[in-house]
Amino acid sequence: MWSWSEDLPEEVRASLLEYEKKSRYLIKRSEDQQVVEDVFDKATKMALYRLINRGALQTLIGVVKAGKESRVYWGKKADDTDVAVKIYLTVAADFRRRLPYIQGDPRFTEVGRGIRNIVDVWAKKEYRNLTEAYKAGVKVPQPFNLNRNVLIMQFIGEEGTPAPTLKEVEKVTLRDYRNVTEQITLLYQKAELVHADLSEYNIFKWGSEVILFDFGSAVSKEHPNADEFLRRDLENLNRFFSKKGVKTQNTQTLLKKVKGE
Ligand SMILES: Nc1ncnc2c1ncn2[C@@H]1O[C@H](COP(=O)(O)OP(=O)(O)OP(=O)(O)O)[C@@H](O)[C@H]1O
Ligand SMILES: [Mg+2]
Repeated sequence: MWSWSEDLPEEVRASLLEYEKKSRYLIKRSEDQQVVEDVFDKATKMALYRLINRGALQTLIGVVKAGKESRVYWGKKADDTDVAVKIYLTVAADFRRRLPYIQGDPRFTEVGRGIRNIVDVWAKKEYRNLTEAYKAGVKVPQPFNLNRNVLIMQFIGEEGTPAPTLKEVEKVTLRDYRNVTEQITLLYQKAELVHADLSEYNIFKWGSEVILFDFGSAVSKEHPNADEFLRRDLENLNRFFSKKGVKTQNTQTLLKKVKGE
């Protein structure tokens, strides 16, 4: 285990140490009584340190969601803005599963070997996808900063509680369906991307808006499997909305509409 080295500036060390203490506390208190663990490896700590130094982050307040392959934290910038900090974990061997979404994308031709590299590329990929989508006007969390496997973006929600996903809201409507398909169309036609992991779990409903997120898998529409991924996304959506009693469009028709054919 890496211990805090003397080469870190005092204020950064203090901030990270304080966070570490808190996070252990949070982990200890969590329902599953997970054992106290060393959450971050050295490279991740260094990435956080660089982001703090850059002014992109001041503190991490707590865990929003601890997944197998990534963790999302609620953090604050110095000016008190809320941010979501998504940290891809390097211990997750499952990252090999992600290669098919990297290889074939003309934007990411250099993928070296090893988990560390894949994790960093994945974070970079999500950051770029978010940036391109955001620039095209697609409703996504605004990306703010990236270093290695740590991505900082707009926090969607309030006071550390994320907005509900479509999976979690009580009622979904035809309007939500239309809004989502509109965003997918914009994503395809203007950002030239396919989400490739779209489902009710990766769409927030925030007020009357829908916000797409979790863009690690998204590929350029030039990816050889882009069409297949798009079809799968639309099938997932249609399945979810029909189950909820919303009248959906035939997948083939929708596919053509999204592609503008
Ligand atoms: N920008 C954000 N603002 C607020 N909360 C967020 C944000 N991004 C992610 N989250 C929270 O973290 C959870 C997981 O995020 P995301 O889907 O991006 O990660 P993941 O690694 O794909 O996790 P999973 O495997 O559960 O899908 C979301 O369901 C949401 O609760
Ligand atoms: Mg997700």
